[in-house]
Amino acid sequence: MDKREELINNHYNNYDEDNRLIKDNTHNIEFLVTQEYIKKYLKPGDRILEIGAGTGRYSLYYANKGYDVTAIEYVQHNLDILKSKIEENMNVVAEQGDAVDLSRFQDNTFDITLVFGPLYHLYNDDDIDKAISEAIRVTKKDGIIAIAYITSDGVFADWGIDHLLDGYPNDFDKDFKLIRYPEGIFAPFYISEFKNIMKKYDVTLLNNVATDGIANIISDKINNLSKKEFEVWVKYQLSICEREDLQGYSCHMLYIAKKN
Ligand SMILES: C[S@@+](CC[C@H](N)C(=O)[O-])C[C@H]1O[C@@H](n2cnc3c(N)ncnc32)[C@H](O)[C@@H]1O
Repeated sequence: MDKREELINNHYNNYDEDNRLIKDNTHNIEFLVTQEYIKKYLKPGDRILEIGAGTGRYSLYYANKGYDVTAIEYVQHNLDILKSKIEENMNVVAEQGDAVDLSRFQDNTFDITLVFGPLYHLYNDDDIDKAISEAIRVTKKDGIIAIAYITSDGVFADWGIDHLLDGYPNDFDKDFKLIRYPEGIFAPFYISEFKNIMKKYDVTLLNNVATDGIANIISDKINNLSKKEFEVWVKYQLSICEREDLQGYSCHMLYIAKKN
């Protein structure tokens, strides 16, 4: 096992990924905002690829709505849970695989490609490039590529705050930027950095969305909102999620682009 394989398997074998997006309001907002944005681009009959499908929170949601879904997941433990939830009426193919090599698929195969997880864990530039290039390659011309990534300051405010005395210089640098390195499970970006990386590819940016905003930072308050109050907070997040002046502390971001 190489370092990345070992680290990712250790993490997800011991983490309840299946409940992550539904366990409380703080986590649920990422799912709700993401869904709202993907809805803008999905057309009846679309063929969806999800890379890093986890236990199928999105893949099965879309399969339930009648879409033809292909799910690729790196960790066998997560894939097994996903497969155990596929129902007879769903059109889902789920396979083990790595985002950096999608050679099993031909060019221009999918209408919409969701990369919801791999970029959280790729620390070297070559792998990041392969994952993005592969997602674009297998997407049809004029199709949609949606890539989730995590931010340096979102992770710093959530996790770094517990490591202010022991995190420097291995986990963050002198400017408090989180470092992407082989021993680190999470690989965050500055938003400007990720947008710059994406300029290399022949795609047009449609939306760069803060999917959870400051939910992690104020999680006690968010989790205590009533159902009706939370609905309003989600509306608020949807109304501000593309405002650059408010994005930096969002843990999760979603870069949505059209393939040229
Ligand atoms: C945080 S989970 C997200 C799961 C799901 N897509 C979601 O958004 O709820 C990230 C997932 O990406 C998977 N993953 C990480 N690196 C990957 C890679 N290189 N190729 C495919 N899947 C990967 C992990 O195993 C994990 O299941």
